Amino acid sequence: MLYKTGVYYEMKILVINGPNMQLLGQREPDIYGSKSLADLETRLVKIAKEADYEVIFFQSNHEGDIVDHLGMADKTVDAVIINPAAYTHTSVAIRDAIKAINVPVVEVHLSNIAEREEFRHTSLTAPVCMGQICGFGLIGYEMAFNALKDFLTNK
Ligand code: DQA
Repeated sequence: MLYKTGVYYEMKILVINGPNMQLLGQREPDIYGSKSLADLETRLVKIAKEADYEVIFFQSNHEGDIVDHLGMADKTVDAVIINPAAYTHTSVAIRDAIKAINVPVVEVHLSNIAEREEFRHTSLTAPVCMGQICGFGLIGYEMAFNALKDFLTNK
């Protein structure tokens, strides 16, 4: 909780997950692990509560829906954690949407995209984010949360 212009203000972080992330836990568990998106949400809500933060979750398989949510982020939240999933490697629209907003955005990948197929080595979105965390599984979202908390507290 931060004190801003006379009022205590609860910080809000939007967590966006892209295509096929609804299948987490069943999908290629050797790469993405056996925990589900619901497990991730439960864990993040717990650490957020401890810090007096609110986390909001959005998962979509549709590029335009992700662009819409990013476009609203300036007015609705203080920061964004995004795993654009396959759109990381293809979406100029999501890159532009991140570039267009003023709240900090951290990109997360469960797997280490640098050690996978060549086409996953390029992220169109990472260069317009505050930073990228990859290769640590679900803990990566927690790392992103802590990085954003630190940034917002010291802003
Ligand atoms: C991913 C990596 C992407 O290359 C892939 O398309 C995904 C998941 C990850 O979290 O490791 O769907 O973003």
